[in-house]
Formats: sequence, C-alpha cells, structure tokens
Amino acid sequence: MELKNRGVLVTGGASGLGAACVRLLAQAGAKVVIADLNSEIGETLAAELRGEGAGVFFACANVASEESLKAAVQTTIEKCGGVHVLINCAGIAVIEKVLGKAGPHSLESFQRVINVNLIGTFNAIRLAAAAMAENKPTEEGERGVIINTASIAAFDGQIGQAAYSASKGGIVGMTLTTAALSYLINRGLGARLKSQIPFFFPM
Ligand SMILES: NC(=O)c1ccc[n+]([C@@H]2O[C@H](COP(=O)([O-])OP(=O)(O)OC[C@H]3O[C@@H](n4cnc5c(N)ncnc54)[C@H](O)[C@@H]3O)[C@@H](O)[C@H]2O)c1
Repeated sequence: MELKNRGVLVTGGASGLGAACVRLLAQAGAKVVIADLNSEIGETLAAELRGEGAGVFFACANVASEESLKAAVQTTIEKCGGVHVLINCAGIAVIEKVLGKAGPHSLESFQRVINVNLIGTFNAIRLAAAAMAENKPTEEGERGVIINTASIAAFDGQIGQAAYSASKGGIVGMTLTTAALSYLINRGLGARLKSQIPFFFPM
C-alpha cells in the first residue's frame, strides 16, 4: 500500500519495534498516531518527528481498554484522515515458571500478559477494522492493512514463557485463521492481515 498521507495507528509505538516502525512510516510520508501507555517517551518521539516536518501524534492508550483504544482510533481518523494501516506492537513479557521455588505461577500475571498481548491485539484489530470499512478502496480494492506482532516464542518458547508463548500463539492463530480472513473479505472490507514473527532484540 502507498503510505504517503495514509493514516497509520501504531500500538506500542513509543519504544522498540513500534518506535522503529513510526520512524520509517514518518520517512515514507505516512501520518502516524502512536498509541502507547508511556506518555513520556511517546510524546517526545512524536514531538521530535513533528519537528522534522512529519505528521506524527501521540494518543495515550491502553490496548486492553475498549474506551481508550476507541479514542486512539478516533484521534487517527481526525489527525490522519482515516485508519489505513494498523501495526500492533504493544506487548509485555513476564518470566515465571509454572511451578517455581516460590510456588505456582501467579494467575494474575498470566492473565495480565494475555490481556495486553492477545486481547489488546484483538481489541485494536476489531476497532481499526471498523474504521477501515469506512475508507474509500484503493485501485487494488484495498481499504486497510493490519500487521500483528507475534514471536518465535509462539512456536518455541523457553522455560518461564508460558504466558508469553500462549499470548503469541494466540496472535498467530487469530491472524492466520481462514475464518478471520474470509470474514473480512466476505464483508467486502478488503483488509489484509499479516503477523510478523520476530526472534530476539532488546526489549
Ligand atoms: N524484543 C524482542 O526480542 C521481541 C521478540 C519477539 C517479539 N517481540 C514483540 O515485539 C513487540 C515490541 O517489543 P519491543 O521489544 O519493541 O518492546 P518495548 O517494551 O520496547 O515496547 C513495547 C511498547 O508497548 C507499550 N505497552 C505495553 N503495554 C501496553 C498497553 N497495555 N497499552 C499500550 N501500550 C503498551 C510499552 O509502553 C512500550 O512502549 C512486542 O509485542 C513483543 O512481544 C519482541
């Protein structure tokens, strides 16, 4: 998809992989909203790129919250003219054994990781898809592109990664299911879903 003047929502865009995406998108002339919990670094990155002439904005958002992400989608529509691309980068990890010296894995930490990584990704997909359905299709009939971030841990997790691997396996399954794709295509949305499977980089 041509990125110039397209609206892109990047969750977790304040740091790491998300921030790298934001920089590349800004260089390509896209208009970007960074949706992240970390206002300090998110605002700083957006201000830096705006100082270079790019259309980059910050929306403080928790991907696991419906209200918060709806607001970030609305900000993208208002500031960028629509949501044409969604890149899901927000993610957290815990390292905890299923049964460690201190006892069993905390249920709260397992739920927290699933809530942010898996449910947060789904929350962004469904709200962005609704916004993309309003876009005028390109000549190729495309209204939007959604990119999710999984991990090699989805297939080959390490000790202590039960929650993280489960969340990333869920993202792979959710992205690849024919049902999800055909649902979107049958609705005439013309959206593409893709997941990226990074190996290791400093988090
Ligand atoms: N670092 C690695 O080696 C590695 C490998 C494979 C996959 N990944 C995945 O890549 C993605 C980015 O990883 P990274 O290393 O750049 O991480 P990072 O910690 O540098 O960035 C993650 C960003 O997500 C934000 N975030 C966390 N919880 C959030 C929430 N509830 N709502 C909104 N924003 C939230 C953080 O504030 C942070 O800015 C993650 O999904 C991670 O699981 C990372």
